[in-house]
Amino acid sequence: MNGSLDGRTVVLGVSGSIASYKAADIASRLVQTGARVEVALTRAAAEFITPLTFRALTGRSPYVDIFRDGAEGEAHVELARRAELLLVAPASASTLARLAHGLADDALSLTALATAAPVLVAPAMDSQMWEHAATQANRALLAERGVQFLGPVSGRLASGRTGAGRMLEPAAIVDLVRARLGREHGDLAGRVIVVSAGGTREAIDPVRFVGNHSSGKMGYAIAEAARDRGASVVLISSAALAVPGGVRLVAVESARDMLAAVQAECAQADALIMAAAVADYRPAEVAARKIKRAGFDARSVDLVQNPDIVATVQGDFVKVAFAAETDDLLANARKKLVAKGAHLMVANDVTATDAGFGVDTNRVTILDTDGGVDELPLLSKYEVGQRLLDRVVSLLGARG
Ligand code: CTP
Repeated sequence: MNGSLDGRTVVLGVSGSIASYKAADIASRLVQTGARVEVALTRAAAEFITPLTFRALTGRSPYVDIFRDGAEGEAHVELARRAELLLVAPASASTLARLAHGLADDALSLTALATAAPVLVAPAMDSQMWEHAATQANRALLAERGVQFLGPVSGRLASGRTGAGRMLEPAAIVDLVRARLGREHGDLAGRVIVVSAGGTREAIDPVRFVGNHSSGKMGYAIAEAARDRGASVVLISSAALAVPGGVRLVAVESARDMLAAVQAECAQADALIMAAAVADYRPAEVAARKIKRAGFDARSVDLVQNPDIVATVQGDFVKVAFAAETDDLLANARKKLVAKGAHLMVANDVTATDAGFGVDTNRVTILDTDGGVDELPLLSKYEVGQRLLDRVVSLLGARG
C-alpha cells in the first residue's frame, strides 16, 4: 500500500447488508492508504458487524446511535464538516431511500444530509430490490444530485442467484475513492495522461510471438499514481496485470497496434509516458496457421524493423520516454533523449536485480533537456511514478 490518501478524512457509512462485513476490509484498506477513517454505522449494520471491529481497524469509535452514544448534540454535523468524502458501502436499498428523500434518523443519513463533501455509494442488495422501480427512482434522484454510484455489479448474490446487486469488491471501491479524491484535490485534475506499459508481442504464427521480459509493472504504477493525482488516465498496454480502478485500458498486442493507439489517444493528451518495452523488430511474415514441427525450416525467422513510437508521435504534450540499458546508462539515455525528442528520459539499468523487469522496486535517473540529472534512490515503482509525475506537473505548469 502507499500514502496516497495521507491526511484525508474519509467517512465510511455502513448500512445493513450481508456485504456489511466487507466494509471492514474497505476501512482497513483506506487506513493503510493513509486516510483518517471515521465510521458511521446504521443500527441494521451493527447487527451484521460490530462497532468494535471498526474501532480496532481505524483507531476511532464509530458513530452508531447518535441519540444514545453520549456524543454532543452537534456531533453529526461535526463529522459531516470534517468529511472530505462520504463513502456509503454497502448501501442498502433502505439507506439509498433515506438518502434520496433527505431523512436524517441515524448517524449515516444525518451525516449525508449535513455534508458538503462528495458522496459515493456502493449498493449491495438482491437483484429484485435493485431492479425495483422504487430503488431505480432513488438511484436516478441521487445521481442527478451528484452522488457517484460505484457498481453494483452482476454476480453471485447472497440468495444464491446470479444477478445485478452485488457490491463492487473492496479493492475496486478504494481505487475509485482515490480517483475521486484525486479529482477533487490533485495537481493533475483535468489533465489527460497517456501511459504505455508492457512488452509488445510480435506474432510469428497464431500461437507464438517474439517478446521481452517487461512485466508492465512500472507503467501500471505510473497510471495508478497519475489517477491518484486526479488525471484521466489512459493505459495502453500489452501486459496481463489487473488494471487499476478508474483507469481506462486500451489493450494492444504488437508495436504497430500500440503506435495506432498512442496516436489516437495523444490527440487529447497533456502528457505521454512511454514505459512500454516496444519490440524493435517483428517477424517479416506472420503465418496464418500454426507452424508445425515437421517440415519447418526453423533455422531463421526474418525480422523487419518496427516504428519508433515515441519518436513518431508528435503533438503539444509532454513526452516522457524510458531508456532500458545494460551498458553506459547515462550516455545512452542522453542520446535517446535527444533522438526521440522527449522532454524527460527515465534511465533504467535493467541488469540490477532489485530494479527493472518484474520487481516492485526501481532505481532510475531522470534526465531533462536542460542537462539536469536527478538520480533517485531505490523506490517502489509507485513512488518512482510519483516523482516522475512531480516533474511532469512542473513542465505542464511552465506551459500554462
Ligand atoms: N520505444 C518506442 N518505440 C520503439 C522502441 C522504443 O516508442 N520501437 C520507446 C520506449 O517505450 C522507451 C524508449 O523508446 O520509452 C526507449 O526504448 P529502448 O528500448 O530503451 O530504446 P530503443 O530506441 O529501442 O534503443 P535500443 O534498443 O537501441 O537501446
